[in-house]
Amino acid sequence: MPVPEAATPAAAPAADRLRRRQEAPPTGGPGLIRLVDAAAVAEQVAALLLAEARRSGHRPLGLATGRTMEPVYAALARQLALLPPTEQAAVRRGWCSFNLDAYVGLDAADPRSFAAEMTHRLTTPLGLDPQRVHLPDGQAADPQAAAECYAAQLAAAGGIGLQLLGLGLNGHVGFNEPPCEADAPCRCVELSPATRHQNAGAFGGDPEAVPPRAITLGLREILAAERLLLVVTGAAKAEVLARALLREPPRPELPASWIQLHPRALVMADGAAAALLDGSCHEGGSPD
Ligand code: GLP
Repeated sequence: MPVPEAATPAAAPAADRLRRRQEAPPTGGPGLIRLVDAAAVAEQVAALLLAEARRSGHRPLGLATGRTMEPVYAALARQLALLPPTEQAAVRRGWCSFNLDAYVGLDAADPRSFAAEMTHRLTTPLGLDPQRVHLPDGQAADPQAAAECYAAQLAAAGGIGLQLLGLGLNGHVGFNEPPCEADAPCRCVELSPATRHQNAGAFGGDPEAVPPRAITLGLREILAAERLLLVVTGAAKAEVLARALLREPPRPELPASWIQLHPRALVMADGAAAALLDGSCHEGGSPD
């Protein structure tokens, strides 16, 4: 795809980065697969996750929560059920996943916790062994120690293979709120008012009811994954997606922008989320 002339000074560095990417694939920054709607995105993301889960010797899957991922896990359950029983059993036997984050102060039995969400959307529908679906311990008395323990557990399991990422409206990935350096480790963080507002839906619409702290994998663990898969749907994310991918250089104020530095990052977006990438992003990046 030809690179358009930069229309504004702000667009010029983005166009230069894109030109460099096109000249130097495959380490030239994120690829983009644009699909017609959120349902199509979910099917494709689920297919990639399932392919990875069936790949022999794969490292743990990195999983995410949030509304964007709800149809992904539903599609994953449907696709798994279509496999022959012996192959389904092999996926279940080989399953190992680590979630990005968890609220501090909610235990796994609390329906608003990410642990409960994963049980409801992933572990039960797929028939997985709960011991193979890892999340940070949001109920630990010492959340920072729990974060360090989670990082050690992930490292012992070999680190992430394919990391699924959602995108916060303020540019967060996991719960890495701005500003966040590229080497920030797994840790206990304070959530921003913007994020508590974004996630209030699960808490009766009240941002004050959203826990103020969380444990999150850091950009350090995320960027160390073999592959990144950023999933973005809906018009509300179009602006932040364009900033994170193209309009701004990687920088702490926009944590998702660090994925520009990853050699094997792929973005899957619906038309609404990708609307501001028109004519300025290299499409058709390989999922492999
Ligand atoms: C949340 C989570 C992220 C999630 C993102 C997007 O706060 N910590 O892991 O991917 O924000 O959420 P949603 O898909 O609901 O927009």
